[in-house]
Amino acid sequence: MSGNVKDELNRRALLTGGAAALTAACASGPTPTSPPSRGRFLWGAATSGHQIEGNNIASDFWTLEHVRPSPFAEPSGDACDSLHRWDEDISIVHQLGLNAYRFSVEWSRIQPEQGCWSQAMLDHYSRMVDVCVSRGIAPVVTLNHFTAPGWFAAAGGWATTSAADLFAAFSEKVSRALADRVSHMVTFNEPNLALGGRWSSSPPGPAYISAIEACVASAARANGSDRFVVLLAHPEPRKLIRNVVAAHVQARAAIRSVRSSLPVGLSLAIPDDVAVVANSVIEAKRADVYGPFLDVMRDDDFAGLQTYGRDYIGTERAIPLPPSAARRPDGREWFPAAVGNAARYLHNATGKPVLITENGIDAADDAERARFIPEAIASVDAARQSGIPIIGYLHWSLLDNFEWLSGYGPKYGLVAVDRTTFRRTIKPSAWRYAEIVSARLT
Ligand code: FCB
Repeated sequence: MSGNVKDELNRRALLTGGAAALTAACASGPTPTSPPSRGRFLWGAATSGHQIEGNNIASDFWTLEHVRPSPFAEPSGDACDSLHRWDEDISIVHQLGLNAYRFSVEWSRIQPEQGCWSQAMLDHYSRMVDVCVSRGIAPVVTLNHFTAPGWFAAAGGWATTSAADLFAAFSEKVSRALADRVSHMVTFNEPNLALGGRWSSSPPGPAYISAIEACVASAARANGSDRFVVLLAHPEPRKLIRNVVAAHVQARAAIRSVRSSLPVGLSLAIPDDVAVVANSVIEAKRADVYGPFLDVMRDDDFAGLQTYGRDYIGTERAIPLPPSAARRPDGREWFPAAVGNAARYLHNATGKPVLITENGIDAADDAERARFIPEAIASVDAARQSGIPIIGYLHWSLLDNFEWLSGYGPKYGLVAVDRTTFRRTIKPSAWRYAEIVSARLT
């Protein structure tokens, strides 16, 4: 997590269908071939369902975006309309010469009510997998990218011990539909994100916490419940972690029961933590924010890493950016090499090969991203050369998308998306990335 928690929460997280389209997708009729060859370094781009699909109305986040008060800058709405334009998205990945695409399946579409499974939506995601495979793109599938069904949140969500069973049942359903062709399965995206706040240089204050509490209370009322539990919108996220860890373990078993050879892991939010004084609390922070997951990750097949910068850890928490730090025009730190350093840490902490499932930069000026990408990749190269097993680099993000609390303000995409026509325009930074990748894949 970078220094300022409010930025972090705004930037990265919430505290931190169409039948016609499906028919059209069918009509595009890919012929699945075998999965892309294993053992190849994955060069790809990442997305998540809620941030690009649009109208994810049965999800917990949709409710949080629409109740009042809501801390969201704007609702997700149509997002990038990727529920209908997913084929075009995968075509862009292909056009760029990348060999991996990370996307998430939306639990609330697959199980819109408890006890109600949508075969049509499983088929939809299965077609996405087929199209990836037919284009030589390894599908990296995330089961939980923050969002869950509204019914799950209203029944107590991750605060209940039944959460693990419910998530494992969902994971098994998805595995039965997709696992035979998927390259890697990520159970949880950044389940540790909410734990980082208290170590930030400006931990969330009472005003922020009460804004979240008011939103969640309003969401509970809207659902006729007395609670609405969302991991990233919970005043005491630590209380939920045990159930999330159990959910990961059970989901992993469920996935392996379907296909034992499918690599499974989870992805943590890990900045490049740097101790700035001899008595830095860096190890206490790591134990607190990553520790709850590291043990179970030792039985995973890979460790997923998501890095967006560097944290300078002082005697109590992170300190603000030192004056000597290189800065971007907007004042944020310029340090693309964070990802290589964080990969080194994560491998040493878990003993697992690292899959970089996210790394990127919020840059309205695409020229900054074009400079960022080669430097970030150079840090990955350096880590690999020093013996750290890294199995892939998936840039966040393929598309400019719905960035949680911040709405459509931040620009992480390799591809711009017109907010009215949904027209995709590949940015120069994407071609820069493509050039680097092409030199390595040929
Ligand atoms: C990460 C999230 C991802 C996106 C990026 C910018 O924390 O996993 O969805 O918001 O930050």
